[in-house]
Amino acid sequence: MTAPRIESLPDGVVNLADFEAPARARLDEAAWAYLNGGAADELTLRTNRAAWDAIRLQPRVLRDLAGGHTGVTLLGRELQHPVLLAPIAYQRLFHADGELAIAHAAAAQGAGLILSAQASVPLEEIAAPMRADPAAGPLWFQLYWRDDRDFMRALLRRIEAAGYQALVLTVDAPVHGARDRERRSGFKLPDHIRAVNLGGLKKPLDLQPGQSALFDGLMPRAATWREVDWLRAESRLPLLLKGLAHADDAREALARGVDGFIVSNHGGRTLDTLPATAELLPPLRAALGPDVPLLVDGGIRRGTDVLKAIALGANAVLLGRPYVHALAASGALGVAHALRLLRDELEIAMALSGCKTLADAGPALLWPARSPERTST
Ligand code: FNR
Ligand code: LAC
Repeated sequence: MTAPRIESLPDGVVNLADFEAPARARLDEAAWAYLNGGAADELTLRTNRAAWDAIRLQPRVLRDLAGGHTGVTLLGRELQHPVLLAPIAYQRLFHADGELAIAHAAAAQGAGLILSAQASVPLEEIAAPMRADPAAGPLWFQLYWRDDRDFMRALLRRIEAAGYQALVLTVDAPVHGARDRERRSGFKLPDHIRAVNLGGLKKPLDLQPGQSALFDGLMPRAATWREVDWLRAESRLPLLLKGLAHADDAREALARGVDGFIVSNHGGRTLDTLPATAELLPPLRAALGPDVPLLVDGGIRRGTDVLKAIALGANAVLLGRPYVHALAASGALGVAHALRLLRDELEIAMALSGCKTLADAGPALLWPARSPERTST
């Protein structure tokens, strides 16, 4: 097994935001714009953060919290805590170890890992450290649809053979968002960094005069409900959808055998002016009922954000850009430290709000208290 480099932590890091400046110092302008930018005016990117900040907690005091813990159950597995690393493409852009570093960090911190379809390291190399550690969190694989069923079938077999435990189909990005910041920076993927697990892609469709490159070239090859059915039938792994906003889409997916959902607006990188994920979460939980696995990402930066997400009905959360800042700043150790900081903050937030376990975090924890129907957990 290849080992990641061990580096020292930057001085003075006490929270996730503190990794940003050292990361900035190590990355060029274009990689920074690709990592941190969002779509268009970045309204959704900003509103994700603002929404978590705007939620207030209403603590309970003097409860007996001895023996409390951050554990949760997800898809039948007991996890030490409810944090997974979000799928983020091309991590060798940010550190030479790329996804290998985050796999070691996640394993060391009992965190889950969702490997991006566009990972820059072979999926088997990422699975090895996660599988070697019995205390590691869940290991899932994120898919983008490729219009080649033989290729997709072969990829599914590789994913299963490597020990991934669930599939996550991302449904909010059939095309790259209009990323102004990224385009202004002139971002281009360097030749030596590739989506190494994807190969054999078909050429774009030929266009007739007057046809749209998007609607006639790309969209005929994008996923639809048919492809969800195909994936459902092709693999026995649990299937989650990432990036839906409408309760009717979630109901349709459930009817087609989908097992769970990740409430996400792709960190504000796809459709700008989507609501914050903290706003999308409660109605989706209400529509799905208490038992369907539901995760959320977008703007999670603090232990209190994790607690609020659970109180609004999530079972777990995904961390995005901050772990990549930690990766860029100091590789595997940085990511492990970022996860530890977030776990510690979550424990402190629970203790200070009277939650012995995360089952105690419900609508009553929010100020003003919300009605349980809207946010039932
Ligand atoms: C992403 N995201 C993403 N999502 C996905 O399903 N597949 C992918 O390959 C990627 N790639 C990707 C690259 C970069 C640079 C970023 C910043 C994001 C979206 C990601 O999984 C997640 O939804 C958001 O990043 C969560 O928001 P925060 O925590 O970054 O605010
Ligand atoms: C992104 C794609 C890879 O957000 O999902 O950059």
